Amino acid sequence: MGYNVAIAGATGAVGIEMMRTLEAHNFPVDKLKLLASPRSAGKTLTFRGQPMSVEVLDENSFAGVDIALFSAGSGITKRYAGACLKAGALLIDNSSAFRMDPNVPLVVPEVNPDDAFEHQGIIANPNCTTIIMLTALIPLHRAWGISRIHAATYQAASGAGQAAMDELAAGTRAYLDGTPFTPQVLPHPYAFNMFAHNSPWIEDEGYCEEELKMRNESRKMLHLDDLRVHATCVRVPVLRTHAEAINVSFRSPCEVAQAYELLRQAPGVKVLEDRAANRWPMPTDVSGGEEVVVGRIRRDPTLDHTLDMWVVGDQLLKGAALNAVQIAELLIQDPSRLPSQAGSSI
Ligand code: A2P
Repeated sequence: MGYNVAIAGATGAVGIEMMRTLEAHNFPVDKLKLLASPRSAGKTLTFRGQPMSVEVLDENSFAGVDIALFSAGSGITKRYAGACLKAGALLIDNSSAFRMDPNVPLVVPEVNPDDAFEHQGIIANPNCTTIIMLTALIPLHRAWGISRIHAATYQAASGAGQAAMDELAAGTRAYLDGTPFTPQVLPHPYAFNMFAHNSPWIEDEGYCEEELKMRNESRKMLHLDDLRVHATCVRVPVLRTHAEAINVSFRSPCEVAQAYELLRQAPGVKVLEDRAANRWPMPTDVSGGEEVVVGRIRRDPTLDHTLDMWVVGDQLLKGAALNAVQIAELLIQDPSRLPSQAGSSI
């Protein structure tokens, strides 16, 4: 059986990876619709060796579509979600539009797959740093029960879209050439620099929005309403792969050796390190790969039942496009849960 799939935001950094992942995973696509803004009308992308025209996204784009993957920003999701649902397409959304809506499951297939089947037409793809963190933490949570997380993130340009990636490249070139460069996409010069995450600062919380997403989305997916999560998110001049220093406390005693063993066996996770050579996962090891890569696990002697680990994941893949496609793969295991197959019961 095949499915009609649409990608809204097909020309963006994540949209392109959604298309590539559908192709790489041999997802059973009957027809694919590539949707973007009027700026991309007439543009051609290649899927399974065939050139395909990008169409302009509008209210009528979802007729006959079974699964719509959205990655065009939360404003576009909110604007077109109604049309998508009315057409009977399942909306899998990479934006933050509906993530904290109690009626919308927020899903990482390795973490909370059962939640996906509770959907009412929309499933949200979590924030990239949260996906990467929880993919690595879930095997340890199942063993020992997480009680507290402290994360420091080192986030790539891709999280702010293709334009930010282009700006990092152009700004780096200008820096090396000694020519003036004024950033237009990100708030600060990015080449040879780093800055606190550019999402809005929420004064009464004392966090930026990205840091709150890590807390709130972790709580929702782990079904732990009072989980303590403290994060500091920083943009570093890397193109597409995030790194995270994670300090995690458990309710029961934990073991470094067992943590390695659990992570070696965990789906979607790879351990990569050479302790003798002081060599740990780096973005250059991980970019373009599907796994979340972990290393440098050690005991934190300053707190009980606490481990420290270094986690690296491709923001565009597991942090966004791959996770969205994996949600679709999960749903087609039970096609009766797709709105287009279930009539009006969803
Ligand atoms: P376009 O390329 O035509 O601007 P990124 O996250 O890399 O910035 O990509 C954003 C994606 O969202 C692009 O595919 C972009 O299309 C799409 N997009 C932005 N605004 C709109 C809009 N008004 N209607 C449809 N797609 C949009």
